Amino acid sequence: MAGIWRVKSVEQSIAETDEPGHRLKRTLRAWDLVVFGVGVIIGTGIFVLTGQQAATNAGPAVVLSFLLAGVTCGLAALCYAELASTVPVAGSAYTFSYATLGELVAWIIGWDLLLELMLGAAVVARGWSAYLASLLDLPPWLAGDTARPDVAAIAIVVVLALLLIRGSKASSRFTGVLVVVKVAIVLFVIGLGAMYIDTGNYSPFVPPAEASEGAGGSVLHQPIVQAFLGLEPTHFGAFGVVAAASVVFFAYIGFDIVATTAEETQNPQRDMPRGILGSLAICTVLYMAVSFVLTGMVPYGELNTGAPLAEAFEAVGITWAARLIALGAVAGITSVILVLMLGQTRVLFAMSRDHLLPPSLARVHPRFGTPWLITVVVAGAVAILAGFVPLSALSELVSIGTLFAFVVVCLGVLVLRRTRPDLPRAFRTPGAPVVPILGVVACGWLMINLPLETWLRFLAWMVIGLVIYVLYGRRHSRLGRSLAGAPAAAGPGGGTGAVGAAGVVGTGGTTASGEGEHPAR
Ligand code: ALA
Repeated sequence: MAGIWRVKSVEQSIAETDEPGHRLKRTLRAWDLVVFGVGVIIGTGIFVLTGQQAATNAGPAVVLSFLLAGVTCGLAALCYAELASTVPVAGSAYTFSYATLGELVAWIIGWDLLLELMLGAAVVARGWSAYLASLLDLPPWLAGDTARPDVAAIAIVVVLALLLIRGSKASSRFTGVLVVVKVAIVLFVIGLGAMYIDTGNYSPFVPPAEASEGAGGSVLHQPIVQAFLGLEPTHFGAFGVVAAASVVFFAYIGFDIVATTAEETQNPQRDMPRGILGSLAICTVLYMAVSFVLTGMVPYGELNTGAPLAEAFEAVGITWAARLIALGAVAGITSVILVLMLGQTRVLFAMSRDHLLPPSLARVHPRFGTPWLITVVVAGAVAILAGFVPLSALSELVSIGTLFAFVVVCLGVLVLRRTRPDLPRAFRTPGAPVVPILGVVACGWLMINLPLETWLRFLAWMVIGLVIYVLYGRRHSRLGRSLAGAPAAAGPGGGTGAVGAAGVVGTGGTTASGEGEHPAR
């Protein structure tokens, strides 16, 4: 198994993106990053999971769950900011790992990011469908929680995939508009909802722990920390608040995608931390406010629905507001699906460029210059998942996958500080090594509060990934071949330049010349 720890040097990673004609123009400023971040972060999590977790795990204390998850993300975000400014290369955690922990870990993270981005897009598409059903009163067989297949979710995935292949400049402006609509709706929920708060609904704030019953009481549905401590399966109580934090963590996913735009940022040293931490801080405050208002409007036990925000307004008799929220959710969630799929194609590109996946996957459309084959594959997988698999099972798997990537990124900061202290670091995580270590511990803690069932699925996924690496990636690795002195076979799009160009397109429709097609712009 020699070679699995081979590290791709930071210099080499950077050099591969710095070839003439494929260099990104540094046009993004902190504000663009914040808009981009908010555009990806706010989605199904706040519109769907808040209600579900209040009803099943945390009660009104779901607001504390949001705080816990937000702080955990903050620790990881500081580490992302350091690595994104030190290794400003598309591919995010995958690339960081290749430069710090070696090829096997990089592969594992790349494989793991499929959970975050591809499954994430599927979960979000289902949330989108639930809100569309609520907005248009669609029949249950067509859209929403019970639709199998969820025709609406499949349809939005297909439409967005076509948009991605087309790579239209208009889609970036469209995304900017969606972000404005989304934030306006969230502020509207907070402002109007606050007038309908019944303080009686806050009591009990942390509902006492109670034994889980029926299927929900199975050890499989118990957080593994409880299972290991030999505790009876429970929900609510202090454990419930942390368990809910692990699940609502999903709502924060996306700031790490901001980190990958380091290469396009004018002044990463100043703007990356502002963009990443700024969007995270804004979302944390908005999320806490929304969950506080929501649990004040309706008794938490009634919030376990597919579109809890809209339905809370219906419950207090403001039907027109419910419609408006559903409209905002449908519009706002659209940009999340789009960017998650986009991020997925970019990571797969980086992996194909390194020949850990077949380089032919990175085929670029002759007319549109977009990575159409990977987009088709990604969209096909997302559509199948979104159409046929239940939301809650998916979202926890997305969370565990993302948390794992965060753990590795925090470790990456510690490793790179030791192995390459000489590298110029545009941004340094403050308080290292304490902050990265706290990041590892906090993310790990949220991970062990996810159900045993999620862990089993996650481990199964990782085993499949390892088998693929052993059978394919290890042998075809471009780095491995170059270290062994053999020329790496370049398939269609397999040359650095071609894939680099495609990867550039994948960063948000930004062309090689950097003529702004970034969704945030
Ligand atoms: N954070 C994104 C959402 O909640 C993935 O939809």
